[in-house]
Amino acid sequence: MDKFVIRGGKKLHGTITIDGAKNASLALMPAALLASGTFQLRNTPNLRDVSTMSALLRTMGMVVDLEGHVLTLDTTGVRKHEAPYEHVKKMRASIYVLGPLLARYGQAKVSLPGGCAWGPRPVDLHIEGIKKLGAEVELREGYIFAKASRLTGARIQFDISSVGATGNILMAAVLAKGTTVIENAAIEPEITALAHFLVCMGAKIDGVGTNRLEIQGVDELHATDIETIPDRIETGTFLVAVAMTGGSVTLRHVEPEHFRALSAKLEDVGCRLEFNNSCVTITAPESIRAADATATIFPGFPTDMQAQWTALMSIAQGTAVVTDTIYFDRFKHVPELIRLGANIEVKENAAVVRGVKRLTGAKVMSTDLRASASLILAGLVAEGTTEVLRVYHIDRGYEAIERKLQALGADIERVAGEEF
Ligand code: UD1
Repeated sequence: MDKFVIRGGKKLHGTITIDGAKNASLALMPAALLASGTFQLRNTPNLRDVSTMSALLRTMGMVVDLEGHVLTLDTTGVRKHEAPYEHVKKMRASIYVLGPLLARYGQAKVSLPGGCAWGPRPVDLHIEGIKKLGAEVELREGYIFAKASRLTGARIQFDISSVGATGNILMAAVLAKGTTVIENAAIEPEITALAHFLVCMGAKIDGVGTNRLEIQGVDELHATDIETIPDRIETGTFLVAVAMTGGSVTLRHVEPEHFRALSAKLEDVGCRLEFNNSCVTITAPESIRAADATATIFPGFPTDMQAQWTALMSIAQGTAVVTDTIYFDRFKHVPELIRLGANIEVKENAAVVRGVKRLTGAKVMSTDLRASASLILAGLVAEGTTEVLRVYHIDRGYEAIERKLQALGADIERVAGEEF
């Protein structure tokens, strides 16, 4: 297991390029199951979650090859329609194969994902949705067994907005007979990217980008090529890194519309942001003001930036309340930030963060992807040396984060191969 050793206190300067969006890639890859042929997904990030999804799709007979950032998927040999526990337990997004397998092959056996590091994350909306489309569903031996000779369109009203359930039902509905309407659909950019991809494959979808999707099922889709959108969470993580360390950094290949809520917050706390086409330059102030943030659905502040914002607020002037309305228990980073000297109290689904003058280096443990990111950010400003253990979590969602930080002047190194 690798660890990161970070010697804090370096301001960040320079330019880096943001990679393609993990959560978009994890939706586009299984969507390829919906048609026979060869797809190319450009700007696919080289991450552990992408490798995990590739491994799962290979077990079904798909040929998957990532060269640089070009992912080629050949679906002509797909014969198996199962997502085994061994894969799903590594990554919840494996549930995304449910809709496409069922729609194209009339059957799917997909392991139930179980909980995650920050609590239960049910898939009831996915299951209810495919039932509405006419699938027979049985839950046994830890698996979802679903079948349908052909799905039929239906009206689906989600009680809560779910990225995954919207993606899954959308992928199921594009090959269903008749019209499906999804009300209260998620409008996260990764879902809009998925809808665009499906339209390129020949799907008929109205309302793309809105929370009411109307899908006219078609008999067949075809393979296509597409470029994946930039990763708004990687973008946000680097913006917060600069806000914390000080300095001025340009991020290339970003989509400003995808992180407006974060940009506004960064301006509130004193950062200057300049946008130029697909670039953003952030210049950090001498000291950061405190500002509350509430994680909610898009276009609100993203839950996947909540941990990083909590880290930033830990060195702000004043007190900030960071609330998560999506995942009530997503605060595993807090005890680790406290080990670095932060003053944070968790009350129900909110962290009350009282800014301190300085953090100090210590050994801390990654518990999940975004929590790990927050610990690295804290390590970049902590006095002395911080060791972030179990960095395999960070490798799930960031491509070579340490190399990008090094390029900006950070003192961070990966130490490999020991048991930590
Ligand atoms: C996706 C993202 C994840 C992000 C999250 C919220 C991917 C691969 N992952 O996860 O990074 O943090 O969106 O933006 O894109 N829920 C139910 N029943 C369900 C499904 C969801 O109750 O069947 C609840 C969840 O527990 C949560 C809320 O709905 O409270 C939103 O979750 P959802 O949008 O589904 O998250 P994911 O798609 O799992």
